[in-house]
Amino acid sequence: MYRIAVIEGDGIGPEVVPVALSAVQRAADMFGFQIEFRTFRAGDSALAELEEALPEETVEGVKSSDAAIKGPVGETAKDVIVRLRQMFDLYANIRPAKVYPGVRPLMDGVDILIVRENTEDLYKGYEFELPGAAVALKIVTERASRRIAEYAFREAERRRKHVTIVHKANVMPVTDGLFARTSREVAGHHAGVSYRELYVDAASMALIRDPRSFDVLLTMNVYGDILSDEAAQVVGGLGMAPSANIGESMALFEPVHGSAPDIAGKGLANPYATVFSASMMLDWLSQVKGDPRLGRASKLIESAAIEALRRGVMTPDLGGKYKTGEVGKGLEAIMVELGG
Ligand code: NAI
Ligand code: MG
Repeated sequence: MYRIAVIEGDGIGPEVVPVALSAVQRAADMFGFQIEFRTFRAGDSALAELEEALPEETVEGVKSSDAAIKGPVGETAKDVIVRLRQMFDLYANIRPAKVYPGVRPLMDGVDILIVRENTEDLYKGYEFELPGAAVALKIVTERASRRIAEYAFREAERRRKHVTIVHKANVMPVTDGLFARTSREVAGHHAGVSYRELYVDAASMALIRDPRSFDVLLTMNVYGDILSDEAAQVVGGLGMAPSANIGESMALFEPVHGSAPDIAGKGLANPYATVFSASMMLDWLSQVKGDPRLGRASKLIESAAIEALRRGVMTPDLGGKYKTGEVGKGLEAIMVELGG
């Protein structure tokens, strides 16, 4: 029995999360493992109704689960997801940006893995005011830089063996300099992986001009946040971008996108980002629990999603006519077809 903490979140969260959970439940039934979803509150609606964006019960619920899946939250993102990342030391934010068949990307053939440091930098949240001024502290440690660089180079070994290290050490030689230097040191221990360094402004241009030149993109917290939305757009939009927040013993999976208040409640939300996040969750669980059934379930959800996209089972953001829930039904039918 695997326990999954579920946070539906705000806006389109309660629309996209059930699609992913239903696919996971279907896969569990097909491969014969037990999964227990336990739903906890967090986000703007939790703040409004419970007076806390991240109630203690939710933190305890995540702590006592094997993994967590989360929809987007709204304006309370800082108090929910940034806190959860720091609280559980979910140091690696993994954001694949990959072109899938049937989706019209800016450029074909793109397959990037963004590996973003997830616990420090300006998102540490050390901000304060002085008379007539505001100050934020940018925290960069050698330890956090080293472990995220190690993660990126290990991933590259299993991929196309190239890492682009993104920073701005020319302007911030102390903080970004430490990140760059440490990443270079780690590169030195991975002789089979080549690397280059790009300043973040040049990297954002290269993502548009030459996105196929990226395999693994290793970067700091703030740059990774920004570049991952850009990379998502290159491969077909935010509705296609999943992510994992991975720590030593806990991991939380969520779409890259936010609560999309402009389309919430209309059945227009693209659930694929959350579905792919759920597939990443099963893959991670399979590795940490040593249970190959979960790995097969992860693969089936991914293959069925790819097939569904190929057949045009898409929401309007991808040019389709399907409602969120209809994509879910189509996806499950294909899971049965492929897996049965
Ligand atoms: P957003 O990602 O919610 O929306 C940006 C644009 O992409 C909108 O036009 C939206 O309709 C579209 N979009 C996003 N996801 C989509 C999907 N699945 N299907 C179809 N279209 C989609 O970003 P925005 O507007 O900057 O933020 C809205 C709220 O979300 C804010 O309150 C922000 O704090 C929060 N947020 C929360 C995050 C989290 O919980 N991890 C991450 C990013 C933003
Ligand atoms: Mg973001």
